[in-house]
Amino acid sequence: PSSARPGAAGELLIGGVGLAEAADRFGTPLYVLDEDEVRGRARAYRRALPKAEVFYAAKAFLCSAMADWIAEEGLGLDVCSAGELRLATAAGFPPERILLHGNAKTPEELRLARRLRVGRLVVDSLSEIPRLAALAVADAPQRVLVRVVPGVAAGHHSAVRTGVDGQKFGFRIAGGDAAEAVDRVLAQPGLELTGLHCHLGSQITDTELYRTDLDRLVELLAGIRDRHGVELPELDLGGGHGVRYRPQDEELDPARFAAGTTAHLAARCAERGLAVPRLLVEPGRAIAAPAAVAVYRVLAVKHTADGRAYAAVDGGMSDNPRPALYGSAYDVRPVGRPTAGTATGVFDVVGRHCEAGDVLVRGARLPADLRPGDLLAVPAAGAYQLSMASGYNLVGRPPVVAVRDGRARLLLRRETVEDFRAREVGR
Ligand code: LLP
Repeated sequence: PSSARPGAAGELLIGGVGLAEAADRFGTPLYVLDEDEVRGRARAYRRALPKAEVFYAAKAFLCSAMADWIAEEGLGLDVCSAGELRLATAAGFPPERILLHGNAKTPEELRLARRLRVGRLVVDSLSEIPRLAALAVADAPQRVLVRVVPGVAAGHHSAVRTGVDGQKFGFRIAGGDAAEAVDRVLAQPGLELTGLHCHLGSQITDTELYRTDLDRLVELLAGIRDRHGVELPELDLGGGHGVRYRPQDEELDPARFAAGTTAHLAARCAERGLAVPRLLVEPGRAIAAPAAVAVYRVLAVKHTADGRAYAAVDGGMSDNPRPALYGSAYDVRPVGRPTAGTATGVFDVVGRHCEAGDVLVRGARLPADLRPGDLLAVPAAGAYQLSMASGYNLVGRPPVVAVRDGRARLLLRRETVEDFRAREVGR
């Protein structure tokens, strides 16, 4: 499920670096990010979709090194805030390869996007159309996509299902909201409508959902052609490709996504007499999640008289809120201890935070004699963990170490209480 592999001596390695050695050097909890895995996954998208434009969804995880790798591998970047936009451009990411999202963009974000000449902007409400047009730069119309809602339910949890009615993103195709937004954008000379955008949801493994999405998007494109005489050249299918958190999970890799969508799109366009638009995709999790491992140290082990066992570690819901938020299931493995032939027990791996809901992995099979000081690794930790990490209990967000060719380098240091105190300007 991730790039962590057993080495010759049975130890867990990532990017050629032993996890126990990294934990000793940088402390725990620790996130170890495999640069080659990120690059390899980015490259796999370009290979599988040679005619498409691939934008890495920065919300999964972003730092300057990550922006460098994504830029060097030839991908674009999907950002959804001035923060992500500023970090990426400060790192040197080319603005023309950036796409900006958001259902509630601030005036500052729109101005910044315009000033930096961000490549594309995704329109999500009628009111932002004139606001954006008013920022027109002479001779440089802003390229925009209109985000639409096709009525397709997809994704691992209701909180991430954005392809359905009754949620805040986009314009519904059914009922005509999407057609109206398209009409309004086309009426603005300062805006160049390049296509439609749709993001169904996250952690999707069934390509049929994307085909249903394409059917509805192509119908809308045909309607726009009939009404306005324009054929929009781009179709952005968003992200959402599922990854393997546990060995038994299914994933949606770039090749299967491509096989499930490109021929279908061509066939539907042929039926409607449309030129085939260029596909845009925005994978986040599928590039970042499998590239990192979270390493924790066991602080306490508790066996109860009613037969339960808890392994409490030095991180938890402040570095990985996903189990508490969505009930997400993870794998966990002991580090530096052989598993074959050792007696195992069933443990709930819990965090150190002041909530009973701070459970990282339920029912994990771990060595029966697990004790304080042991290390545990949680694979597939690269997406929506650190990017959603919080300051709860002032534990401090963990450091991030990049590994490549057997060498480790610190990208982000551990957050300390001094970082918090530095923000205090009154009492
Ligand atoms: N494009 C748009 C417009 C999105 O909203 C998202 C994710 C993506 C692309 C990337 O989706 P991905 O390929 O990473 O699935 N915090 C949740 C996931 C929220 C996803 C939000 N949007 C989680 O931890 O599962």
